Amino acid sequence: TTVLVLNGPNLGRLGKRQPEIYGHTTYADLVGLCEQWGHDLGLAVEVRQTNHEGVLLDWLNQAADDGTPVVLNAAAWTHYSLALYDACAQLTAPLVEVHISDPKNRPEEFRHTSHVTPHAAHEVVGQGVDGYRVALEHLAGDRT
Ligand code: DQA
Repeated sequence: TTVLVLNGPNLGRLGKRQPEIYGHTTYADLVGLCEQWGHDLGLAVEVRQTNHEGVLLDWLNQAADDGTPVVLNAAAWTHYSLALYDACAQLTAPLVEVHISDPKNRPEEFRHTSHVTPHAAHEVVGQGVDGYRVALEHLAGDRT
């Protein structure tokens, strides 16, 4: 099974961006970790990141056509993109929502809403980059 791990805006700067919140693991490290975790679970994992919303929508549309399971950290788009809501709604294979932090336990009110959660089979929040491993484990489990 191939799984897409899709990351939204500013996550390319992981490790440099607000490390007190998101940790010191770099985005390059995250890619390697996800590939390794996937390998251990028997999943072919492809990790992508974009700062351009339409690019993410195109990836989600393709995943819907292909029936590909998705691990999604849509970052700030999570909180306000209705196009993201619609794109997630049409997915056919399981979707797992991931956030490195726990948005609902952060002070900004805007982080308390998610347009991904209504369509997600599982949510993994507040576990740092290890959350991606937990998300992949959910997908590996859901297959059986
Ligand atoms: C995030 C949480 C979002 O609120 C924020 O906009 C991000 C990262 C996380 O992984 O904790 O960019 O999705």
